[in-house]
Amino acid sequence: MAENLKQYWSTRYQEAQTGWDIGYPSTPIKTYINQLEDKNSHILIPGAGNAYEAEYLYQQGFSNVHILDISEIPLKEFKKRNPDFPEENLHNADFFEFKGEFDLIIEQTFFCSFVPTPENRSTYAKQMASLLKEGGKLVGLWFNFPLTGEMKKRPFGGDKKEYRSYLSPYFNLKSFEPCYNSIPPRAGKELFGIFTKR
Ligand SMILES: C[S@@+](CC[C@H](N)C(=O)[O-])C[C@H]1O[C@@H](n2cnc3c(N)ncnc32)[C@H](O)[C@@H]1O
Repeated sequence: MAENLKQYWSTRYQEAQTGWDIGYPSTPIKTYINQLEDKNSHILIPGAGNAYEAEYLYQQGFSNVHILDISEIPLKEFKKRNPDFPEENLHNADFFEFKGEFDLIIEQTFFCSFVPTPENRSTYAKQMASLLKEGGKLVGLWFNFPLTGEMKKRPFGGDKKEYRSYLSPYFNLKSFEPCYNSIPPRAGKELFGIFTKR
């Protein structure tokens, strides 16, 4: 695991510099979850942080929810809030090194969190695909504001065309549109996408 990265994110949690943390399951993801039918689906949330969306899934009876984060701090917090959640489904790991096979992966403020080199962005797309079963889905939110070239200031942006260029070698696009039900501070700044592994 990239120790410096682990340290960076753990320090953000220790110092409570967690502006991304909204404290509840976001409306777009919650709305998407509400129409899912298969409660046995294997679902992964990478870069999950405090993972309120995973908590919501678990409360709704989804039995194979996995969360992954490079920092163990939010995973411990999650376990405190959800003591019955299976320990083996909490993964303290680097997304880029993780192995598994899921039906659905949920993206929220993870893509925008790592250094936006073309190499990192295309490796993300490849790794997402490798973590999905054939026909599995990558679903979630990507910020829709310009990438400035500043390599330190998170969240890192992008646009539909750029995201598609990374994802299309591995995914068929089902939909990718401006998000209509973003939480108020993110209104007009997000795309909601559904991609199916080729
Ligand atoms: C901006 S935060 C978003 C957290 C969460 N998705 C949310 O919406 O609140 C990014 C998260 O990704 C985690 N992270 C960053 N790089 C990672 C990596 N390579 N592997 C796993 N987790 C990573 C960080 O520790 C942090 O919790």
